[in-house]
Amino acid sequence: MRNLQKKLSLGALLVLTACGGDSNAGDTNPSTTSHERDASHAADGPPRADTGAATDSAVPGGGARDDLDAGRLTDADTSLDAGSLGDVEPLLRGSREALSVPRATDLNPDPHVIEINLDAHIASVDIGSQQVKMYTFNGQVPGPRIEANVGDRLIVHFTNHLPVETMIHWHGVRVPNAMDGTPLVQAGVKTGGTFDYSFVLTDPGIYWYHPHLDSSEQLMRGLYAPIIVHEPSEPVGLGEEVTLVLSDLAFSSPGVAGFPDDGAAALAAGRDGTTVLVNGQEPRTLLVQPGARLRMRVINTAANRFFKLRIEGHQLTRIGSDGGLAASATTMYYLLLASAERADLLVVPKGKAGDRFKLQAIPYDRGTGGTADPVPLLTLQLVGGEAEAPSPLPARLRAIEPLSTSGATKVAVKIERLGNEYMINGATHHAPPVVGKVGETQHWRVSNITYYDHPFHIHGFFFQVLNPRTNAPVLPLEWRDTVNIPQSAQLELLVKYDDRPGRWMYHCHILDHVETGFMGMLNVE
Ligand code: C2O
Ligand code: CU
Repeated sequence: MRNLQKKLSLGALLVLTACGGDSNAGDTNPSTTSHERDASHAADGPPRADTGAATDSAVPGGGARDDLDAGRLTDADTSLDAGSLGDVEPLLRGSREALSVPRATDLNPDPHVIEINLDAHIASVDIGSQQVKMYTFNGQVPGPRIEANVGDRLIVHFTNHLPVETMIHWHGVRVPNAMDGTPLVQAGVKTGGTFDYSFVLTDPGIYWYHPHLDSSEQLMRGLYAPIIVHEPSEPVGLGEEVTLVLSDLAFSSPGVAGFPDDGAAALAAGRDGTTVLVNGQEPRTLLVQPGARLRMRVINTAANRFFKLRIEGHQLTRIGSDGGLAASATTMYYLLLASAERADLLVVPKGKAGDRFKLQAIPYDRGTGGTADPVPLLTLQLVGGEAEAPSPLPARLRAIEPLSTSGATKVAVKIERLGNEYMINGATHHAPPVVGKVGETQHWRVSNITYYDHPFHIHGFFFQVLNPRTNAPVLPLEWRDTVNIPQSAQLELLVKYDDRPGRWMYHCHILDHVETGFMGMLNVE
């Protein structure tokens, strides 16, 4: 019986694949004013007992697709499950697991320590329609998913078997400065070299890891992976979880991931890939139950691309972003997720068994034009009978202290473009560092005097976005590390430096813009 269910669930996974995703995100108007848009990715449930074994069947680079195709789920099959809830649960779980990024194997028996090996090397990765030669962590794209609880220590033994130097940055995680994985704090790990990272995951939320050396190219070649940090005391019943890592892929030659050689103007725009990937694969199908709330942790790990997300015929409820849950939920029909932004999203699927609807990236113009048509990311297919109505969300998801402008030091950051380069306060690549003190709160005003959007990222510290009209943080309160600054807009941020002095960075997370000058230093003393 177990086997049968397993088989069924594998079959279900395979189902579709439909959408051919090559186009860009966007055109429409930047309808939102601020940053209530981000994306998140979905992963699967709460931390599992781990070893990654449960998930090796599907996703990136996995070898099981052929068998999967043998088990295509038909409408007739789904009607079998229309009855009892108990029967579809394994099917639903199997579908989530098959879609998920395989987890890293934890080598440490201590339940509060996650110790993993990461080996960067070139491998052939199955993206659905073809094998692609990519840069990988442990042979998979995205790299192994890390799931932990707040307070756990993460130890990573990193070995580099790529032909180029690299290093790993833990995006958004409040690491000690020496663990930040940038050229400011460590030498590149050479081919054959190793480096050990070790730090405590102090905050809940949706994070990710990626190289910080030749970042745009190395990300496009496949080096990125999700980190989910759970808060055991968060409200219960938010829904079954799935992490969705959104990215795209360009080909330097047929079957080889990488940017084709583009000129300075292309970099200054920010190069999108030609194929959109979700958890390393072309669009697939996820089985969901009518009425059963689904929690999608979405991460935009694309080197440059934005995703403006919507689910056909459904509302999205955004409950959090980078640094965990927001103070309260917000409901919307679409959500812009600029590169490096994350979103914690809930959706309650409507309809009956057999119905399908898509998660799509709809057109958005970040200054480079955009496509006319929506890009499919994932098909949601309903199975089973209507679930019991989910319990209402608590009005307050989490208590967050607002930062205050009173006593905050002002910092002005002006972004301009000169030819094909970006300038920070009039300097390309060499703006003087912003200097902060441990314990100080700073009030950054970032003025984007260009016709391009820029997702603005500060290393090491969370910030709150300020509403200049109220002189208080934007509601609902939340902790961000990356926020999109629309073209010709200005954003104000409040950031408080806790006791982790060192040499940090701030930059645009359209990584081609880093190459073209949009990179600044933040020295905390
Ligand atoms: Cu994703 Cu400098 O960071
Ligand atoms: Cu930019």
